[in-house]
Amino acid sequence: MKKVELLYEGKAKKVFTTEDPELYIVDYKDDATAFNGLKKGTIPGKGAINNRVSNFLMKMLEEKGIPTHVVEEISDRETVVKKVSIVPLEVIVRNIAAGSLAKRLGLEEGTKLACPVLEFCYKDDALGDPMVNEYHIAAMGVATKEEVAAIAGYALKINEILSDYLRPHNIELIDFKLEFGKTSDGTIILADEISPDTCRFWDSVTGEKLDKDRFRRDLGNVQGAYHEIMKRLLGE
Ligand code: TMP
Ligand code: ASP
Repeated sequence: MKKVELLYEGKAKKVFTTEDPELYIVDYKDDATAFNGLKKGTIPGKGAINNRVSNFLMKMLEEKGIPTHVVEEISDRETVVKKVSIVPLEVIVRNIAAGSLAKRLGLEEGTKLACPVLEFCYKDDALGDPMVNEYHIAAMGVATKEEVAAIAGYALKINEILSDYLRPHNIELIDFKLEFGKTSDGTIILADEISPDTCRFWDSVTGEKLDKDRFRRDLGNVQGAYHEIMKRLLGE
């Protein structure tokens, strides 16, 4: 499978068309941004780690009944994925208060939530990805109520599977962001990535942050944290 044309370049990935109209190739970059692109940097090796970690976790989810866009990893940084149109929502699931939720509700970071919290943000950089609910989503025609229900069901199921999977690796899943896409026949599948860029992973013994918060908050050893996640999951 070969890249034909650059279709889209995002903050952390490039997407290329291929000779197959139903397949794209995603190419993961080492670039990192935070705060809607205000903070910029490079995390050497991040692209390869995120590619491999995301594919590993999505394959695990696929085996447990979650449909994903992953087709085949073709190099350290590149993966063939199913062509989808991305539903412009950031779907966030939270188990422990952290980040913007801790700030918004005045909760101390690390406070256990009595039940998982599901949030939707409308993907629009110019608006700063505002939080929306299922009424906004339906009213704006972003997705139908049925599609939102399917997305919510998948997101909460993924939270259970992923939390259980990470626990024996001493990784606590604090919160994470997902994106879903629609295939040409209208099926909703998991797209984008699941990586230290898009999840909060805390060491369940020491509480150490093993994710992009090390970059966002200038905590140091960003590369080391990404490597640690790959080592715990893939053994290398
Ligand atoms: P937040 O606490 O900043 O709202 O982040 C919630 C989760 O979503 C956290 O795991 C990081 C992830 N996230 C992204 O993947 N992309 C983003 O642009 C933001 C703001 C958060
Ligand atoms: N990637 C996002 C941005 O640049 C934010 C984040 O992950 O914190 O805006």
